[in-house]
Amino acid sequence: MKTRERQLAALDLGSNKVAALICEAGENGRIDLRGAGIAESKGFRKDTLVHLDAAVGAIRQAVEAAEKVAGLPVESVVVGVAGRHIRSLNSRGGITLGTRPREVMGEDIRRAIEAARAVSLPPEQELMHVLPQEFLLDQQSGIRDPLGLLGRRLEVNVHLVAGAAAPTQNLIAAVNRAGIIVQDTVLEPLAAAEACLTPDERELGAVLVDIGAGSTNWIVFQQGAPHDSGLVPVGGEHFTQDIAIGLSTPLWEAERIKRGYGCAWLRGLGQDTLFEVASVGERPPRLASRRTLCEIVEPRAAEWVALLREALERPYGPTAGVVLTGGGAQLEGLVDLTAQEFQVPVRIGLPKGLAGASSTLSNPACATVAGLVLHANRLRLARSRPHGRLGPLLRNFFTGRAWAAGV
Ligand SMILES: Nc1ncnc2c1ncn2[C@@H]1O[C@H](COP(=O)(O)OP(=O)(O)OP(=O)(O)O)[C@@H](O)[C@H]1O
Ligand SMILES: [Mg+2]
Repeated sequence: MKTRERQLAALDLGSNKVAALICEAGENGRIDLRGAGIAESKGFRKDTLVHLDAAVGAIRQAVEAAEKVAGLPVESVVVGVAGRHIRSLNSRGGITLGTRPREVMGEDIRRAIEAARAVSLPPEQELMHVLPQEFLLDQQSGIRDPLGLLGRRLEVNVHLVAGAAAPTQNLIAAVNRAGIIVQDTVLEPLAAAEACLTPDERELGAVLVDIGAGSTNWIVFQQGAPHDSGLVPVGGEHFTQDIAIGLSTPLWEAERIKRGYGCAWLRGLGQDTLFEVASVGERPPRLASRRTLCEIVEPRAAEWVALLREALERPYGPTAGVVLTGGGAQLEGLVDLTAQEFQVPVRIGLPKGLAGASSTLSNPACATVAGLVLHANRLRLARSRPHGRLGPLLRNFFTGRAWAAGV
């Protein structure tokens, strides 16, 4: 196989950084990291593209850095999408197989999924993902793969993710202007979940929480499939802003202090220590205590966890645990605070599934871009199937199920 056919590339256009990964699909499902590039995010504010040229420049910078390490040019990428314009809902659809039971075929599965995705959306919204949860055959639920089973009526429950067309088109336009084709777009927390959640967590019920700079995106998995997803409008930069105001210090210094000394949970704070704080203007630096810093950070963390709790107070909450990822997950004390709030196990999610000695992959900030590469691999596998009659539909599937790639 040619190197180009084995290449898997992804772009995460975050509000803090633009991350590009170039990988290569190897033998036995192995994916090797070939190059990573990170550039400061410019031109994006939250989920909106505010300056096209700046965004294109940041994309080029990240991609060129990855290309330099990989020694390969990138032609097409999978891109992550998130933001307030995303809506998610569950839907059921089905088809009658016949008056007498007959075997379910691949085409039946496709038609049942088509029926489930036929929901009416506001005119500006378009479907991004159709994620099958379970099939029902003659009302018997919980079927993972109905292919070859007998029945009269086939139904499917799906999780649908829709987004406004314009913001996504703008992102695609920016990537195209940087000379790169967009192969597919994927909901960011879905990609992060693909990289961070274990099959057990997905099965037993876990929430993946991606704490970015501008916001926190979450997705709930149960019985192996997504059931709910959403956004909480608090991210890492809100903590930094609070520190800057609370300690009267510039944002860059507040960011350094947050990473070095910040703690989100006063009760978990060990021995108090002092650290130096740069002042604004010509004034000399001062000393501040970690306790004072924690008193600034904790209320924002409390707001964040309360918003998350409110968002998850729906039928599908965390049962097996919460996995925190994204750069913001590294704030000390956040794991303990979340565990106390939800009374379930909480851990930091690092991206898995890619081989290659790189510190890039041992950082939760790179969970999304790593998951996007895993999705690129799924697309490659679907394309290489000789009987891939469901090609156009497959772009919408994104689950850990064998049938997702097989139907
Ligand atoms: N060690 C650390 N401790 C606390 N916060 C950190 C640490 N390292 C990074 N962060 C925070 O993580 C955030 C950036 O995370 P990330 O790179 O995942 O965001 P992004 O993907 O660019 O943004 P978004 O997902 O919101 O578009 C910043 O707010 C940064 O302050
Ligand atoms: Mg992000």
